[in-house]
Amino acid sequence: MTSETGGKAEIPTGLDAPRAPGHWGPLGHLPLMRRGLLPALAELGSGAPLAKLQFGPVTKYVVSDGELAQEVLADKTRAFGRKRVIRGFRPVTGEGLLTLEGGEHREHRRILTPAFSRASLARITPLIGEVASQYAERLPLGTAMDVDREMLRLSADLTVRCLFRSEIDQETVSWLAAKAAPLSRGVLLRMLTPGWGPALPTPECIARRQVTHRLRQVAGALPAHHRLGGGDDVLSLLELSACPARGSSRITQAAVVDELITFLVASSEATAMTLAWAWHELARNPKAEQAVHNEGDALFNRGQPLPRTALEHLPVTTRAVMEVLRLYPVPVVPRNVLHEVNIGGFRLPRGAEVLVNLYGIHRDPAHYPHPHTFDPHRWPADANPLALRDAYLPFSTGAHRCIGAPFAGLIAPIALAALAARFQLRPADPHRRVRAVPGVVTRPNRLVMTATARPGVGAPRQPAPPTQT
Ligand code: HEM
Repeated sequence: MTSETGGKAEIPTGLDAPRAPGHWGPLGHLPLMRRGLLPALAELGSGAPLAKLQFGPVTKYVVSDGELAQEVLADKTRAFGRKRVIRGFRPVTGEGLLTLEGGEHREHRRILTPAFSRASLARITPLIGEVASQYAERLPLGTAMDVDREMLRLSADLTVRCLFRSEIDQETVSWLAAKAAPLSRGVLLRMLTPGWGPALPTPECIARRQVTHRLRQVAGALPAHHRLGGGDDVLSLLELSACPARGSSRITQAAVVDELITFLVASSEATAMTLAWAWHELARNPKAEQAVHNEGDALFNRGQPLPRTALEHLPVTTRAVMEVLRLYPVPVVPRNVLHEVNIGGFRLPRGAEVLVNLYGIHRDPAHYPHPHTFDPHRWPADANPLALRDAYLPFSTGAHRCIGAPFAGLIAPIALAALAARFQLRPADPHRRVRAVPGVVTRPNRLVMTATARPGVGAPRQPAPPTQT
C-alpha cells in the first residue's frame, strides 16, 4: 500500500489541530468574522500554522504557513481533493483544467503547457505591447471610471488576442468585463455553500445560466477568428489535439470550448484585479509611481515595438506587481481531505475542509515587516514573481499550480508600464475608502479613478507594428 507521499504507508498519529482564537461559545468563530473574512484571514496568518475554525457543525482547517501549504498543495496531493473548486467552477467552465482531475487533468496540462514556454511568451511579447498600447488610446480621459471594469476589458482583450491569437469585438469585451464580477460571486457562493444551494432557481442562478450560455457562444466563435501564429498558442494546441483528420483525438471538440472558457474566466479576473490594485497602490506611493512612469517612458515612448526581453527593462514595475500579488492574492485555496493525513504533525480527518490561507500567509509579520504596507522595494532587484519562495504563493503550487502564471507575470508589468507611459491615475474621490472584498480573487469594493495625460508626455503615439511572431 502506498501513502499520499507515494512511499510507505503513513500511519496518522498527529494531534488534533488547535482551535483558532476568537471562539465564542455557541457562536463559534462567527464573532471573529465581524470585521470581515479578509481581516480574519490576516489575523490567522500571524497565528498558528494550522487552526480550526468552527461555525456550528461546520469545521474548517485553516493552513496559514508556507511549509504546511506546500505539504497540502504539492507533497501530499493524493490525500487532498478539489471538491469545492470543482463545484464552484463546473457550472460555468464545464470540463477544463480548473475542474479536471487525475489522468485527464495531466493530459490537458501536457497539451497546453507549450503555450507558456519561455520561447512562446517571448514571441508574443511585442503583440502584448501592441494590444496594451491600443487599449491606452481607448482609455477614457478626464472622467471618473471604474478601474476594475476597465482592467477587465484590457485583460480579456490580452487573453483573446495574445494567448488565443483570436479576436472579439469591443462590445463583447465590454460584456465580459461587466459580467465577470457577478459570475465570480456565484463561483464563490458555490464554493462556500452546501451542494443544494446553486440548484435553486434564484435570480442569481438564472442570470448565471444566461451569462454562461452567452460565454459558450463567445468561446465557440473564437476558432473562426483564429489567426495563424507559431502554432503554440492555446487555441492552436487545443485544435490540434482535437483533430481526428490529423490523427489526434486526445480531447473532444466540446473540451476545446470548455478550455477556452476556463482560460477566459481564470485569466481575465485575476489579472485585472492585480492591475486595478496596482493603480490604487501606485496613486498612494509617489516614489514607486514615478519609478513605474520612468520605466514605462523608456520602453513605450520611443516609437518602437516592444523587445522580446521587455521584462528586463521593467524591474521596479515587476516588483510592484509582486507586491500587489502579495497584498491582494487569491485569498484562499480550498481542498478537502480524501483520507486521514498528517500535516505539520497534526491530524486531518477524512472529509475535513481545508483552506490554504494565502491572504494570511502573505501578511505574516514574521516574513514581511510592516505586512500591510505596499513596498515594492522589500523584494530584491532581480525578483521574479514566478520563483518559488517561503511564504509567497500567489499562483499556488503543486499539480494545480496556475498554468497561466508565466503569462500573468508578463502581461501585468507590460500593461502597467504601457499605461503609465501616458497617464496618471488618481482617485475620483480621495476621501472615499477603498476596501478589499473576498471573492475568487481579492477585489476592491469599488475603485473609481480618473486618468489624466501626464504632464510633459507628448500626444500618444501609435507604436510601430510588431515584429513577425
Ligand atoms: C495575477 C494573475 C493570476 C493569479 C493570481 C492566479 C492564481 C491562480 C491560483 C492561486 C491557482 C491555483 C488554484 C488551485 O491550486 O486550486 C490558479 C489556477 C489556474 N489559473 Fe491562474 N492566476 C492568474 C492568472 C492566470 C492566467 C493569466 C491564466 C491563463 C492564461 C490562468 C489560468 C489558470 C488555470 C487554467 C488554473 C487551473 C490550473 C490547474 O488546475 O491545473 N491564471 N491560478
